[in-house]
Amino acid sequence: MDPGILANRICMIRRLDSLPAPAADQAARLYWQAFGAKLGRLLGPDRRAMALLSLAARPDHALVAVTRDQARVVGVGGFRSPEGGFIALSRPNLAAIYGGWGSLWRSAVLRGLAGDTDNARFLIDGLAVDPDWRGQGIGSALVEALAAEARARGYSRLRLDVADQNPRARALYERLGFGAVGHQRLRLLAPVFGISGSTAMDRAV
Ligand SMILES: CC(C)(COP(=O)(O)OP(=O)(O)OC[C@H]1O[C@@H](n2cnc3c(N)ncnc32)[C@H](O)[C@@H]1OP(=O)(O)O)[C@@H](O)C(=O)NCCC(=O)NCCS
Repeated sequence: MDPGILANRICMIRRLDSLPAPAADQAARLYWQAFGAKLGRLLGPDRRAMALLSLAARPDHALVAVTRDQARVVGVGGFRSPEGGFIALSRPNLAAIYGGWGSLWRSAVLRGLAGDTDNARFLIDGLAVDPDWRGQGIGSALVEALAAEARARGYSRLRLDVADQNPRARALYERLGFGAVGHQRLRLLAPVFGISGSTAMDRAV
């Protein structure tokens, strides 16, 4: 991937693991800001969730948009590999924050949310842009940078999941060439996550 792909005039796309350590915490904070509403019942309150995300964030599984001085992460695009995703919600990580029983039921519930792991397609796993920086092409640039990352890793297709309650994100993905390929209903878990289900979308890289 060309690490200098420009999202707009004042920020650029970088691999998170190429940046100083505080960038990973900033990316985790953005992730929580974007997905806290969905994951809050499971991982909240905020203080505990942030402790988990700091522990569980894998900088080698995310691209980020940073300001030109590299002082501030304003967007994050996580991805999944055979080793897992950007936020490693493993039993040991959950147990470190919520204890034995707390980690047991949380990982059972998270298994209900996780889509299928897909070795044929490169899975985008958590795309979020700072609210103050939205609508400037950063999300689109992150998707294209993730496509370049997928190409470099030998994948021919890109995949992501979008919540039923997020029609604007879905419209963005359709504009970027994604089409719906499946739908997962959450059924009993719907009240936990506050969404009825999600649509799997894919496109060529
Ligand atoms: C979805 C998201 C990553 C897009 O990032 P972005 O930098 O604003 O994207 P771009 O500037 O490239 O494209 C803007 C388009 O994104 C879509 N979008 C989705 N949610 C949006 C929001 N809250 N604010 C602005 N645009 C949003 C819209 O289609 C918008 O175009 P429109 O203004 O014509 O409706 C960003 O809005 C975000 O972080 N949302 C919260 C987390 C989220 O929903 N992530 C997707 C999970 S699948």
